[in-house]
Parts: sequence; structure tokens; C-alpha cells
Amino acid sequence: MANFGVVGTGVMGRNLALNMLDNEIGVAAWNLERDLLDAAVTESDGRLQAADSLEHLVGMLDTPRRILMMITAGRPVDIVMDQLAPLLEPGDIVIDGGNSAFIDTQRREKAWAEMNLHFVGMGVSGGEEGARHGPSLMPGGSEHAYQHLAPILESIAAVSDSGPCVTHCGPDGAGHFVKTVHNGIEYADMQAIAETYDVLHRIGGFSNEQLSQTFALWNKGPLESFLVELTAEIFDREDDHGHLVDRVLDKAEQKGTGRWTATTALELGVSIPSIAAAVDARVLSSAKGLREHAATVFESPELPAVPDELGSIMHDALYATKVIAYAQGLRLIVRASEAYDWNVNLKEIARIWKAGCIIRARFLDTIMAAYETRADLPNLILDDTVTEILKTTIPSLRKIVVLAAGAGVPTPAMNASLDYFDSLRTSRLPQNLTQAQRDAFGAHGYRTIDDPDGDSVHSDW
Ligand code: 6PG
Repeated sequence: MANFGVVGTGVMGRNLALNMLDNEIGVAAWNLERDLLDAAVTESDGRLQAADSLEHLVGMLDTPRRILMMITAGRPVDIVMDQLAPLLEPGDIVIDGGNSAFIDTQRREKAWAEMNLHFVGMGVSGGEEGARHGPSLMPGGSEHAYQHLAPILESIAAVSDSGPCVTHCGPDGAGHFVKTVHNGIEYADMQAIAETYDVLHRIGGFSNEQLSQTFALWNKGPLESFLVELTAEIFDREDDHGHLVDRVLDKAEQKGTGRWTATTALELGVSIPSIAAAVDARVLSSAKGLREHAATVFESPELPAVPDELGSIMHDALYATKVIAYAQGLRLIVRASEAYDWNVNLKEIARIWKAGCIIRARFLDTIMAAYETRADLPNLILDDTVTEILKTTIPSLRKIVVLAAGAGVPTPAMNASLDYFDSLRTSRLPQNLTQAQRDAFGAHGYRTIDDPDGDSVHSDW
């Protein structure tokens, strides 16, 4: 009998199965296309047990059964779940490890709980490499299911100096929600790095070699992270035609998690402008034909004088943007946790993002410490250490935003981050006028500064 079942032996499912086998976990697998399954068996040196059907797979597993689905998010998950449910017994556990929308996970978990089956939505981050050698895992679902899964998940997860990168994020859709926000932060982080590249290259005249060296240097300091390290390597990569990055078409694609982060934030009334700007930046980049046409209609402004030390100003601007993007994502998790009663522990979330996942970064230590000191911190920017980081770096972010605007180089994530920061640190915003307008044209009422929690009043404007 095998300890674990895997449905779907595409690259992620196969690598997670191999990772389990390396950790002495017996794995049986089934895949719709037999040749992919056979290839996985060969790659495992025959250790992976191949099932001929879902029914066969279920019969090969210890009870309570633990089955991981690594299949395309959306309709395929419902189809496989409908096929699996009648084959299972009460207490069996099925995990969806894809990037599913958390509302789908909530619906599925509820339906399966009524059949006494455990359904666990689990975020898996780290790509192919992570899946094979240690991903960051973000499971939701019932505490009972997690207890049955924990030893196996801990053995395959990435390990940082704060332990294995897995924790029970919370009930029902909490795991997939945390993964969605992870990806939202990933979008903002990637966009901020792209803007950094644009400013350094187009305004500062940095070559690919200089960019590679700059990012490699930054990776030795507070910006140390997987994405900064990867960026240094990308600028270094050449083929017969020259630098590979220069040949990549500038149209960013997306599978949906960034957009879900933004739509959920809108629905929950949480401001995440840096993440939303990153989603929009991908959308705008896709309008390549329109951009090429508009570029012939509107000229670029003249390049402004490049400040000395552009590299170090840019470093701090990127750092500030990153900090603010994390602050927004974490605030969204807190709000969702309140709305859905998940009781998510942000210190734990920061801890499991420290290794294995795409947004792993040195800065996560600061976040962990912030929520260790104060679990109910209203916003990351108010943690003492983070406040000091922002006081040092925000002046550089201002300089870069002004410089880029003067040069006509778009920096949407950086602008959004600075606006978010400036809005939060402004005690009186101009929305008194907004309220006055609403009352003047629609008699919607307003509250007064001398009685902010009192009744709404109306004036004849
Ligand atoms: C991860 C990644 C992974 C995937 C993204 C890509 O954490 O391992 O986030 O989930 O690379 O889904 O998303 P886009 O196609 O939307 O960029």
C-alpha cells in the first residue's frame, strides 16, 4: 500500500511525487495521459506506483487516504472531485495543490464536509524546482486534515532557519487565499523590479552587464531575494543573438491570481494599489500594437539630468516599494481572515514564505519579527523597524518617481506605493470635499469633524 496518492503527473505533480519518494513516502499516481505517468515512473527509477484508473489509485492507498490533485485549476478540479467522491470513505483527505480561486475552495470544502470527506486547498509555491526539492506549502482546510498531513508536508517542504515552510493557514479557503496574496505580492515585486530596470536602463543608460552586476550586488544586502537573484542571472544570459532578455517580447501574461488578489481587495474594501498597478501594468503591456502606434503620435519628453548615485537611489526606491507592497498584501490577509473567520497568523505566514517560494526574501525576517512583537499590528508600516526602513528609503522613492515622470518612463507600482504611503501618513485628506459633493448632489449626508462617530447630517449646499 502507498502512503500518498497523486492525481496529475504534469511537471508539478511529478516533482512533488519525486520529492515525497526521496523522503521515504510511498507514492501511487494516476494521470489522464498514460505516457506522462509512465515518464514519471521512469524518472523515479520505478519507485512511483502507477495506477490504471482513479479507482485503482484509491485501492492502492492506506487509510485514511491522502490524495494530492495537481491539475489545472477550475472545471477539471470539480470533475476529478466528482469522480473521486464516490470512491472514498469518510475521513479520507483530498488536497487541491493548484492555484485555485479561494471561493471555489470554500464551496468545495463545504460540500465535501457534508459527506464527511476532507478537502484541503493548498497553495504550492516555488515552481518546478521548489516542487522537486522543497516548496513553500500553504494548506487550508480542517485542523483534523492538517494533523494527518503535517508529517508528510513537513518532510517535503523547503526548510529555512525558522523551520519547514508549511503551516496550517486556517480553515476552508485560507490556504488558497494566502497563496493568491503571495502571488499578488509576487506581481508587485516583479513589476517594481521591471520599473527599476526601465529607469536604470532608459534614464541611467545601464547596460545588461551593469544591470546584472547591480542586481547581484543588491542581492547581498537587504534586498536579498529569489527574484533579485534571478534578475541578475537573467541579465547575464546570452545566446547566439546576444542578450536573451532583449529578444523577449514585452507582453506580460497572467493566469489570474494577481487579478483575484485585486478583485478580492476591492470587494473587502482593502487598498492594495501597488499590486493592482502591477496587474494593470501587465494588461497595458499586452496592448503592444496600440502602444507602438501611440509611440509614433506622442513624443517622449527630453531626458532629465541623471542624478549622481542613481544606482543607490534606485536601490532604496525598490526597497521602499517592496516594503509597501508587502504591507498591502498582509493587510488584505488580515481583512479576509476577519471576514471569513480564519484566524490567520501573519508571523507564521511570513515564516513559511522565507524559503521555497517565489517571494522568499531577507525582508521576511523583519516581517516575522514585526508580527511576533505585535500580532495585531494595524499595518506593517507602523512596526518600529519598518518605520525606520521607510524613513530612510522613501526620500529615494520620491526622487525616482519625479525623475521617471519627468522622463516619461512609467513607474506605476512605485507611484502607487508612494501614493499609498503618503495617503496613510496624511491625517487630513481632501475627501471632506468628496463627502460635501455627495451630499450636495445626492443628499447622501456627511459627518462632521467635531462629531466623527455621530449621526450623518445633510446641508442645503
Ligand atoms: C509560485 C508561482 C506560480 C506561478 C504563477 C504564475 O508561487 O510558484 O506564483 O504559482 O508561476 O501562477 O502566475 P502568472 O502566470 O499569473 O504570472
